[in-house]
Amino acid sequence: MGNDATLLPQDSFAQRLLTGHVKKFYDPVVDIDWDAPLDPDKLFLPAEVVSLYGTPLWESLSHEQQRELSRQELANVLSVGIWFENLLNRLLLRELMSGNPTSRHSHYTLTEMGDECRHMMMFGKLIDRVEAKPYWPNPYERLVISSLQIFLRGSMVWVGALVGEEIFDAIQRQTLDDPELQPVVARAMRIHVTEEARHIGFARDALVRRVPTMSKAELAYTRLCVAIAAPLFVHLMTNWHMYVRAGIEDGRGARRIARANPHAQRTLGIGAANLGASLDKQGLIGPLGKRIWRRRGLL
Ligand SMILES: [Fe+2]
Ligand SMILES: [Fe+2]
Repeated sequence: MGNDATLLPQDSFAQRLLTGHVKKFYDPVVDIDWDAPLDPDKLFLPAEVVSLYGTPLWESLSHEQQRELSRQELANVLSVGIWFENLLNRLLLRELMSGNPTSRHSHYTLTEMGDECRHMMMFGKLIDRVEAKPYWPNPYERLVISSLQIFLRGSMVWVGALVGEEIFDAIQRQTLDDPELQPVVARAMRIHVTEEARHIGFARDALVRRVPTMSKAELAYTRLCVAIAAPLFVHLMTNWHMYVRAGIEDGRGARRIARANPHAQRTLGIGAANLGASLDKQGLIGPLGKRIWRRRGLL
């Protein structure tokens, strides 16, 4: 589709991302030292990112229990990451059917899908390496996740991508360069943050181009989905099974404590700050959404 001088704006942006990908991408099979031993003392997530951090319940746990909870919370976030990227790839594959297969936009979409395939493998290997088990959706939840494909269309593909990618990204950035963190986790996070920066740029660019063309109905629908996304995200991050697997008997009680934990809300709030501001600037958070996002500490 023409040389670089004649590209459409979205294609010249996609071309920049394609060039960036050639310069820097990772193969987690060889770019992570999977045989390095785990550090017997270090946590699997920085303490400040663990959902119970700062609560009396957290203080009552021994270092060993805190470490175990950090392992379970890492396994949960990686599991959510895997099925989220699975869903995103399905959406992107579908979009390709209505796109131009010779465009740079389509070619970068395929490149991103390849990144996500390697990330899903990296997350799976990491769950195994830290000696945890995945938190996998049950048949009912799998049905709900698969049916999201029907609802996530048009601008919602990009909003969905941003909600998943930006919040995780901001949380991951809080885990980089922490000397108290397991080195294998820090390495995987570093790889993911590098590649996701391009994905986030791609989704933001697509959304910015889409918003001015949106009908009133699409705008209302997008605002509704954005409003629902915030509590869904908090729900996924405080899966009560994590607490049970970490040896806390009352898993649901621990989840209640985590949801009311101002420290955890602040961590998620830092994660959602950029996303919330940019969605708001584009008019994609309605009055209901603002109320819900604020109540969850995300705005
Ligand atoms: Fe990814
Ligand atoms: Fe991504």
